[in-house]
Amino acid sequence: MTADPSDRITNGEEHIEDQVDRALRPSLLSEMIGQTQIKENLQILIEAAKLRSEALDHVLFYGPPGLGKTTLAHILANEMNVNIKVTSGPAIERAGDLAAILTNLRAGDILFIDEIHRLGRAVEEVLYPAMEDFSLDIVLGKGPAARSIRLKLPYFTVVGATTRLALVTSPLRARFGATYRLDYYETDALLEIVQRGARLLQIDYNDDGVQNIAKRSRGTPRVALRMLRRVRDYAQVRAEGKITGPVSEAALDLLNIDHQGLDDLDRRVLLCVIEKYRGGPVGLNTIAASVSEEPDTIMDVVEPYLLQLGYLERTSQGRLVTRHAYDHLGLEFQDDEPQKRLF
Ligand SMILES: Nc1ncnc2c1ncn2[C@@H]1O[C@H](COP(=O)(O)OP(=O)(O)OP(=O)(O)O)[C@@H](O)[C@H]1O
Ligand SMILES: [Mg+2]
Repeated sequence: MTADPSDRITNGEEHIEDQVDRALRPSLLSEMIGQTQIKENLQILIEAAKLRSEALDHVLFYGPPGLGKTTLAHILANEMNVNIKVTSGPAIERAGDLAAILTNLRAGDILFIDEIHRLGRAVEEVLYPAMEDFSLDIVLGKGPAARSIRLKLPYFTVVGATTRLALVTSPLRARFGATYRLDYYETDALLEIVQRGARLLQIDYNDDGVQNIAKRSRGTPRVALRMLRRVRDYAQVRAEGKITGPVSEAALDLLNIDHQGLDDLDRRVLLCVIEKYRGGPVGLNTIAASVSEEPDTIMDVVEPYLLQLGYLERTSQGRLVTRHAYDHLGLEFQDDEPQKRLF
């Protein structure tokens, strides 16, 4: 959710999906499945802040897309019973935009900044004293007559989210009292997430039916829930409406999602490195150009999961496809340049 209306232009279908998404989003810590350690830490953070009647400390969430960063930001607001103001790095263009947001906050409020790694330098500099001293320096006038005044802000909480921790500057990172990394979910947790989604959407299913979805959802709740909706479509159109083992198997095969959860793009990336660059190493931008995708998409969406599966390695020379990937794709592994694997 950003302030930029152009970001919100979607076709009707996606709009409905957005609504479904919101309906499925857990709103309390107790409804959130998986991420046990983060939940426990947040529970302590929340209870301690409540005990002392203070605002929550600033919290930063990072990790691959679709794992629950935005969800957790809203959960924090619900648990603390405070307002949440949602914005994003690219939406705050000027320092003045941030000043306007900050001066509208009330004590205890949460300011959720999505894609926080994309904040501009000048905006960040306004954020530092706001986060640290709850103050805002405003410069009045120009030239020699200019003077600055310091406004006091209420105690508020910044919740930041990013898929790229490495791009968050260190002074900004240092101002967060707690930083949590969200990791891919285990199949058991995903199974629970799919079952919960199916119950909420009143979908008829059996165990085998939802197992297939959980297994192929690349450790990601967003992917699992999206697949659940597509499999439901298939079940309604091609079967009797019930998601059974064979039904979800057939639906996911038709969507070209394989047993490890790889989709077309994942396979195209692997095949491109194998076929055009003999398995690598090859640079990210070259891969992106070869498969006609944005480097950001490859880096945020494709790569983390392939790294996690051990299908891809990152070396100083570039990306390298591993033997596991060849095996998975049913290709013969040809290690014709053993020296390249020494890096
Ligand atoms: N632990 C969970 N239990 C149930 N549903 C979840 C869980 N985590 C995430 N979801 C669901 O997955 C979807 C994606 O989660 P969310 O939008 O919070 O991800 P994100 O990490 O903010 O992704 P992005 O980096 O793309 O912004 C949400 O619709 C939410 O309902
Ligand atoms: Mg998000």
